[in-house]
Amino acid sequence: MSGLFITFEGGEGAGKSTVLQHVKDKLEKDGNPVIATREPGGSVIAEKIREVILDPAHTEMDARTEALLYAAARRQHLVETVIPHVKNGGIVLCDRFIDSSLVYQGGARGIGIDEVLQVNLFATEGMMPNLTLYYDVEPEVGLARIAEHKGREFNRLDQESLSFHHEVRKAYIHLQEREPKRIHTIDASQPFDIVLAKTLQEIEAVIEKKTT
Ligand code: TMP
Repeated sequence: MSGLFITFEGGEGAGKSTVLQHVKDKLEKDGNPVIATREPGGSVIAEKIREVILDPAHTEMDARTEALLYAAARRQHLVETVIPHVKNGGIVLCDRFIDSSLVYQGGARGIGIDEVLQVNLFATEGMMPNLTLYYDVEPEVGLARIAEHKGREFNRLDQESLSFHHEVRKAYIHLQEREPKRIHTIDASQPFDIVLAKTLQEIEAVIEKKTT
């Protein structure tokens, strides 16, 4: 029996990682075999690729090099972590996946969504999430939240301009319109409890659909 692959997407400071952790705790408490993972990373090799990509010193990294590294990390993470768990009937909650590449490298960096999709389809062999939750928030609000949480990792992408983050948001909205069945938007400007409740509703609906 195959399980479920659910991805969490959004711009900086949307709160998706915190929500994901709470969802994992709740699903676990309910007795579901669930793992939480993230991209870039989620396996030893992929975490090493993450360090190269996000190193604040790597300001000269070419946009296509970056896209290829994300795709390479994704491949390793899928093979080592995601696919085995899903094949065993488990639920994988993943902080970012293919849509992050389409949006950040394809949209905001200007390589083109469909070109980045081609590279990623090679990496994933066409495997897509059963459900993707997009946490939508104005970049000004997200970045202000990050500024409040000083303990968070500072990475190369935090150095980007506000207009870059607006391009990211535009690309997410475009992708959601392109794939409304898979990608569901959650208004992340709402209070945390509401965002969490809406997330659980969405996930419980796919679990139920699968088991009926
Ligand atoms: P995060 O840990 O805040 O999610 O940061 C990871 C950063 O990497 C974030 O700024 C988005 C970026 N990213 C891409 O540009 N492309 C990708 O494919 C992925 C997975 C992440």
